[in-house]
Amino acid sequence: MTKRSVAFFCKECGYESPKWLGQCPACKAWNSFSEAPEAVRSKTDKGRGDRPYSPLKAVPLSDVNMESHERMPSGIQELDRVLGGGIVPGSFVLVGGDPGIGKSTILLQVSAHLTATGRRVLYISGEESLEQIKMRANRLGKEAGDVRTASETDLDRIEKLIEEEKPEFVVIDSIQTMFREDVDAAPGSISQVRESANALLQIAKQNGISVFIIGHVTKEGTVAGPRMLEHMVDTVLYFEGDRSESYRVIRAVKNRFGATNEVGVFEMTGKGLKEVPNPSEYLLSGRPENASGSAVTCVMEGTRPILLEIQALVTRTSFGLPRRTGVGIDVNRLNLLLAVMSKRAALSLAEYDVYLNLTGGMKVTEPAMDLSIIMAIASGYYDLPIDKETIAFGEVGLTGELRGVSQCFYRVKEAYKLGYRRIIIPYANARSIEKEYRSVCMPVHSIREAIKLLQLPKEEQKT
Ligand code: TYD
Ligand code: MG
Repeated sequence: MTKRSVAFFCKECGYESPKWLGQCPACKAWNSFSEAPEAVRSKTDKGRGDRPYSPLKAVPLSDVNMESHERMPSGIQELDRVLGGGIVPGSFVLVGGDPGIGKSTILLQVSAHLTATGRRVLYISGEESLEQIKMRANRLGKEAGDVRTASETDLDRIEKLIEEEKPEFVVIDSIQTMFREDVDAAPGSISQVRESANALLQIAKQNGISVFIIGHVTKEGTVAGPRMLEHMVDTVLYFEGDRSESYRVIRAVKNRFGATNEVGVFEMTGKGLKEVPNPSEYLLSGRPENASGSAVTCVMEGTRPILLEIQALVTRTSFGLPRRTGVGIDVNRLNLLLAVMSKRAALSLAEYDVYLNLTGGMKVTEPAMDLSIIMAIASGYYDLPIDKETIAFGEVGLTGELRGVSQCFYRVKEAYKLGYRRIIIPYANARSIEKEYRSVCMPVHSIREAIKLLQLPKEEQKT
């Protein structure tokens, strides 16, 4: 049989096929196949490349040595929390996010901290010259000056450098700039990204080096290059936030060493990223007083309740078709909630444009936010400001009923801590609330009841 020299890969899911296909049989994506040289595999079982052949053996898990798994603190507690308690030696981590959001900054900060605590670190940039890295390091402070750096894109040379330097922590700024000479494709192409990531994965696993790779994000919000990058790494961290604002949120969307959905909140300052220990206070700090269309809600990010402001602008449509857009929330969900409001709460929104904004650049999909979205829209529609001690959360069903939310008690506690004294919750959660908080909770059955609370004068709301 003649040996195939090419193969085709699905850009979406990494499915491999000997011939081009219009639709991927695995993920059903159309027109997602692209050509890439097939990985060279030795067909004999005499071992691969320069590794000698040794038969595979099974071991009981109790014999597996765990010593090497002691985590390294990154020096940034919020990041450690997202990683599940620090950097795991030998872990392979992908850090994704929009350009200019702070990926290089945070990894240089981590590198600086690790260097200062006596660890061997190597920061390799394929995007910036050494002078540019130095300029960033100068902003971050003295410690960053000691980080060992190199500016290179050729992975074979990088591999040799890693062999020489024997670092414990390596940063590759960005995987899209790396290339291997033996792969016949441009840097950033699927096969280059795949092969480069593969080589780095081997380095991480065979030598117990933690390798953090930076990945660019496409317009659709996924890491550029094949989705398979996400499958190869142990942990995927995403940066969220509006570049024009100073908040940044790091979220773990995959983590083999800890919980996902844990977030770390940061602020970009003149001296790099600083952690924000009380995100709720921070995210609500700019909230306007007595403005209609603004509501506060509480979402759970991992184990942490976070208070957020939702703003709605409701204006008369000037063209035939009303516009509905949302920043930070799912527009389909917004449309659904608007339909429920029209049908179940008799708000005639058909002639109104609705613009929704989640402040702070957060992106939230938790249904517990439904009720406050509705409150914000109703407040905007009636032009009635929501009282500043009122907060609402609850999932809304299609009949306009309110459904219970998970961990309601933690949300109530956080809201109380921040001074909220009228906490609108779903009736189903009322019994789970501890006595001391019962007097401030207002359980409601439906969105109609909740909107009524908004329309009453303040004195009556209290009872
Ligand atoms: P950077 O880490 O280069 O982004 P990325 O690697 O994700 O593309 O961050 C770039 C932005 O951060 C840039 O707009 C400048 C800003 N910045 C600060 O505001 N303060 C700082 O101390 C640093 C280092 C950068
Ligand atoms: Mg960068």
